[in-house]
Amino acid sequence: MAKIPVSMVVNGERVGPVQVDEYTTLLDFLQEYLNLTGTKLGCGIGVCRACTILVEGNDGALEPVRSCINNVGRFNGSSVTTVEGQAQRNSNGEVLALSPVQQAFLRNFSFQCGWCTAGFVNAATALIDDLRRRPVSAGKVEQVIEEALGEHICRCTGYVRYFRAVREVIESTPGLVKEAD
Ligand code: FES
Ligand code: FES
Repeated sequence: MAKIPVSMVVNGERVGPVQVDEYTTLLDFLQEYLNLTGTKLGCGIGVCRACTILVEGNDGALEPVRSCINNVGRFNGSSVTTVEGQAQRNSNGEVLALSPVQQAFLRNFSFQCGWCTAGFVNAATALIDDLRRRPVSAGKVEQVIEEALGEHICRCTGYVRYFRAVREVIESTPGLVKEAD
């Protein structure tokens, strides 16, 4: 199999160029080449969204991307965030503080086996990022959560607690909810 060189920024650190098999998925690159195993393989066919990571767009916006169905070559030169990059860490890599979304998931006991959790964390983080740019009216909070998380599958059926935790973050973070339409 032919090799291709891949370079990107992952969780704030420059990686590569790494020579990878040309058909390597982004998920396999993260797990096998970078040892970032927090991103999980669920269905492997783009349905469950357990493998969702974040890619920074040209405008700095965070886009949720399913890493199981995308070739790593597509992200050459991109800036990618996985669940390992959500918490604040010190120079030794030790966690100093979980992100607001992670803290809310813990407070609400949102996950059970945890297999889907990294995908939910990243999708919710992208939603919060989007609401900083485009605040939503109070009456539409449920709707935007549904749009952001509604296609994520949790086989332990933790949806209510995931949704509750994200609503908590949205409603407690200044600037995400507009006074009125
Ligand atoms: S593992 Fe990627 S969408 Fe299911
Ligand atoms: S917590 Fe088990 S699949 Fe969601």
